[in-house]
Amino acid sequence: MTLNIRFATHENISDILRIEHAIEKVYPADRQTLLDRLELFPDGFLIANNDHQLIGYIESCIVNEHPFSTYNDIRQFSNIHDPNGMILFIIFVGVDARFQNLGVGSLLINTLKNRISQLYSHIQKIHLVSKEQYVDTFYRKNKFFTIKPLPDYMPSYSGVLMEYQFE
Ligand SMILES: CC(C)(COP(=O)(O)OP(=O)(O)OC[C@H]1O[C@@H](n2cnc3c(N)ncnc32)[C@H](O)[C@@H]1OP(=O)(O)O)[C@@H](O)C(=O)NCCC(=O)NCCS
Repeated sequence: MTLNIRFATHENISDILRIEHAIEKVYPADRQTLLDRLELFPDGFLIANNDHQLIGYIESCIVNEHPFSTYNDIRQFSNIHDPNGMILFIIFVGVDARFQNLGVGSLLINTLKNRISQLYSHIQKIHLVSKEQYVDTFYRKNKFFTIKPLPDYMPSYSGVLMEYQFE
């Protein structure tokens, strides 16, 4: 499988939405939310394509230290996005279930790390909220460590705030 990582464009939103609905069954983002995130910070919104189709994506914004305990506290990313902030916040990373466990999610994260460190060299670290199942697996493998549990992050599941530090 040949993989290409590219910046997302408006033309990709329908394919992203298709994957979003398939993998995020409880609270999928809608089309307008995805478009808003793309317009907010296009440098932090990447897609993965194989030879035939879009199979994964990662969305992010830039923030300052921002105490929060629930998704509701931060869901208006346009209110906390600050290009001069010190922290890249990964909003979501998703891979089409048919192509999971093939390295696509890790490639998206590592490409984002590289692009951000080139374009925004003042950024010192990455934050994200992981679902429990990915804390000691996917994110540990990608050099994130645990900051603290967020038991009330979503009505339906808890989260764990995790961090990666740029060298
Ligand atoms: C999380 C996700 C993006 C990982 O993408 P991926 O392309 O499958 O990941 P990679 O192939 O780069 O890495 C695979 C690693 O992820 C972890 N992983 C994959 N699926 C997992 C699962 N269902 N449960 C727990 N860990 C899992 C494992 O550590 C695995 O490593 P291993 O093969 O050495 O055991 C993908 O599983 C996904 O889209 N999940 C649903 C969407 C989601 O919940 N995203 C937000 C996560 S907080």
